[in-house]
Amino acid sequence: MKSKLLAKKELRNIPEEFLNKIISDSEKENPKIYDKLKEKKFNEKSKEFKEFKKIVRKKLRVLYGVFQKETLNNNKRKKALEIFNLSSKQDKEKAIDKILKSHLSTKERLLYFHRVYSKIIDVCKKPKKIADLACGFNPFSYYFWNLEIEYFASDISKEDMIFIQSFFDISKIKGNTMYGDLTKESFQNEIVKKIKDFDTCLLLKSLDSFEALKRGSSTKLLNKISCKNIIISFPSKTISGKNIITGKRHWFQEALKQKNSAGWNIYEFEIGPEIYYLLTKS
Ligand SMILES: C[S@@+](CC[C@H](N)C(=O)[O-])C[C@H]1O[C@@H](n2cnc3c(N)ncnc32)[C@H](O)[C@@H]1O
Repeated sequence: MKSKLLAKKELRNIPEEFLNKIISDSEKENPKIYDKLKEKKFNEKSKEFKEFKKIVRKKLRVLYGVFQKETLNNNKRKKALEIFNLSSKQDKEKAIDKILKSHLSTKERLLYFHRVYSKIIDVCKKPKKIADLACGFNPFSYYFWNLEIEYFASDISKEDMIFIQSFFDISKIKGNTMYGDLTKESFQNEIVKKIKDFDTCLLLKSLDSFEALKRGSSTKLLNKISCKNIIISFPSKTISGKNIITGKRHWFQEALKQKNSAGWNIYEFEIGPEIYYLLTKS
């Protein structure tokens, strides 16, 4: 069934383990549809297959950020890298714009990067070394910082990290990438060690994905990161602009309380369809 669900090109880069978890969660949350589907031997043409596919894809869109219409296949990635290498500043900006639009989170943030980064620079002072965890394509927003920054990017997707590393290298940005599952303690430890002298850590729209994979993993990670600025965000609106009820994230409220008691300052603000929490250690 998995291969049928993955038939679309844009879903092929999704790591196996991640997809398995999404499928098994979808099964548990929709037992009636799944049982019927099983009865029908996972027939692709059945109504239930279509329904189940829709459920899995919706989850993937929210948790993984796949934006189906604009996904960058390997050819498009290659072309973008050629443009970075050879073309004018204007063409490069166009290519970056296209890449940012191909990932749901950065597409939604595109209009607001200047405002968001100005706010972060204001509160956290000028970041010098940024670690962008579960980064998606956000590292391509590098130039919106308008600062010379050392960058570290990590995500579960190997292909995306290869693409981002090439962007850093071609653009002469001091940057490194590493791929892995940030809900795994061993990988968390590795990453935390790598970024121990970084001042700023971004965890944008990713903690819900971690919690969906392994409950409690976000708090564990938050407690390990030694950067003096940690910026966390969550979606505050759906794609259609409706408000998302955020009251359910009790674990996050608890994590904020703990940070606050440990002497961290917490700033909260909303820009565009996203709510941000700036945690700073004095
Ligand atoms: C909604 S997207 C946000 C991307 C980016 N942070 C942004 O806001 O532009 C969630 C990202 O988390 C990554 N992700 C999900 N689960 C992960 C895990 N267990 N370990 C590392 N990255 C993960 C996905 O690959 C995806 O890029």
